[in-house]
Amino acid sequence: MSELGGVEQALDHRRGHINDALLAAVPVEKPERLHGAARHLLKAGGKRLRPALLLMSAESLAAVDPDSPVDYHRFPAADGGSADVLAAATSVELVQTFTLVHDDLIDDDDVRRGVPAVHRRYDDSTAILAGDVLHARAFELLLGTGASPERSMRALARLARTCAEICEGQTADIRLEERSQVTVEEYIDMIDRKTGVLFATSASLPAILLGHEDAVDPLASYGREIGRAFQIHDDLLDLTTPTETLGKQRGSDLVEGKRTLVNVHARQQGVDVDELLAEETAASVTDARIDDAVAVLEEAGSLEFARERAREFVERGKDHLDALPQNQSRRLLTDTADYLVERDY
Ligand code: IPE
Ligand code: IPE
Ligand code: MG
Ligand code: MG
Ligand code: MG
Repeated sequence: MSELGGVEQALDHRRGHINDALLAAVPVEKPERLHGAARHLLKAGGKRLRPALLLMSAESLAAVDPDSPVDYHRFPAADGGSADVLAAATSVELVQTFTLVHDDLIDDDDVRRGVPAVHRRYDDSTAILAGDVLHARAFELLLGTGASPERSMRALARLARTCAEICEGQTADIRLEERSQVTVEEYIDMIDRKTGVLFATSASLPAILLGHEDAVDPLASYGREIGRAFQIHDDLLDLTTPTETLGKQRGSDLVEGKRTLVNVHARQQGVDVDELLAEETAASVTDARIDDAVAVLEEAGSLEFARERAREFVERGKDHLDALPQNQSRRLLTDTADYLVERDY
């Protein structure tokens, strides 16, 4: 089996645990409209990359054999205690899902995870409130991992900081849209906060909860770098991957004038990116029109530029893993970093 096949299988296995825990964490309750909206995207699926990464990171710290059964609810800490790392994984996926609910409102997108976005299926107010419920539930879960009070406090502080940084990143994303000239550095700073930090937190939370002090910073740095790579690859998938595969509208970034890395580079080459699909809307744009726009961006070398930057961030991320003990689970973290920029959805 190829390494990527191995990663997909590893993700699949962990996704099963995470999916069960997620639906249990947000049960059907009254008022049904609010909690139904909160469950809407959880039920629709999703790749569960961040929580899977969290579990793999925990496994690398405890040198768990990736193929043997493991009790994620009582995962061994460095000093004899334990913590529920599945609760922590569920917590980061709730944060991820809350940001998506709000992101689709902000980006005015219709489809998410192959189903209508929450604000389309319900309404704007319900989407805001459902996102807030998911956000709050994430903290409740992280509070109950059974880690020591000191470690729990640190984990909670980290998650809180992460949520605030995502909001800063999303604000930067909106502001950059208003600017015609954006530098690569400004783009990287924006994705660092909107996406990198949640990967950093996902990778490093187990080290905090399980008392592996020396591993906290290297795992956070690994997560941050591969999170950047992940976002650049997401920008590329927006251009290249059919809506049905992606589970969200292809070409949405182009129609909305998002300052992606491809967009930033193409502008620097003199391409008037905003003109490419100027008269289109998400509803009107066709694959043929997107193909034409992508051909212009390809010609400017902008897709290749973005692919290269993504690969650089993956390599930088993997380098940080050198600080961790070498074992099979660490190998899985390395392969997962590669997978993030090779996946086709
Ligand atoms: C989407 O993240 C938001 C970005 C940071 C690009 P994912 O592509 O991981 O979305 P899901 O969770 O699998 O739906
Ligand atoms: C999303 O970035 C980042 C967060 C949700 C915080 P995008 O706007 O690129 O994500 P998609 O493409 O809608 O998933
Ligand atoms: Mg979006
Ligand atoms: Mg967005
Ligand atoms: Mg995107």
